[in-house]
Amino acid sequence: MYLLCSNAHLLLVHRNPTSPFTSIINSMKIFLDTADTQVIQNGYNTGLIDGITTNPTLIMKSGRDPENVYQELIDMGLEDVSMEVVGNRKEMYEEGSRLAKKFGEYATIKVPCTPDGLAVCKELSKKLIKVNVTLIFSPSQAILAAKAGAKYVSPFVGRVDDNSFGGLCLIKDISNIYTKQQVFKTEILAASIRNVRDVGRAFEYGAHVCTIPPSVFDKMYKHVLTDAGLAQFDKDWENVKSKVQSLREGT
Ligand code: E4P
Repeated sequence: MYLLCSNAHLLLVHRNPTSPFTSIINSMKIFLDTADTQVIQNGYNTGLIDGITTNPTLIMKSGRDPENVYQELIDMGLEDVSMEVVGNRKEMYEEGSRLAKKFGEYATIKVPCTPDGLAVCKELSKKLIKVNVTLIFSPSQAILAAKAGAKYVSPFVGRVDDNSFGGLCLIKDISNIYTKQQVFKTEILAASIRNVRDVGRAFEYGAHVCTIPPSVFDKMYKHVLTDAGLAQFDKDWENVKSKVQSLREGT
């Protein structure tokens, strides 16, 4: 871990300095929202993925023991894996503490935005365990999560959109509140993202992290003009190569 100072911004970089993917950018983090380790390996190989979020539905779809999934992700090199806990206050606390002990600093314990979930958030945060408060659908919930010491709040953009009000506006509202109230500890993790456009907008409106399905991540590279431009450049380069060959052969 080391500190960088630039234009009065303190940037805390927690990365392996020997990794070829070491980055000094500690904003615009991209997490993959899946428990499919094969797909995650492909994403991780790009060097652009900063973490993973899972939930009981995604674990169910994987058909695997969640702890084997978490271990595989950590062995891959991922440094931030959200692991959701369920049940009552005692059950969530005990399970969260156990997971944090087992997986150390790589574990982020995910709790729902309920009185029990936020009580657990407060207790775990006091022990310096990272907590992601999930199922956030309103600014008031994000206020409570920040007060409970959450490392992340997860507003569900897509599910808000499904219910006829603006998911991205929710990101903007939370960001405005956190900025005005100088909340530095809690990062806005835009979740339930369904398309590439929402990724750009979520960051524009103040999200620190976007967790996205792998299919949306793949589409972030794509633009029809990139494809057309590349096809033309490849064609012209073939032309250059044959001309250079003729010149060099003096023909
Ligand atoms: C967040 O952490 C959740 O896992 C996720 O983003 C939910 O997305 P969905 O609404 O597409 O299920």
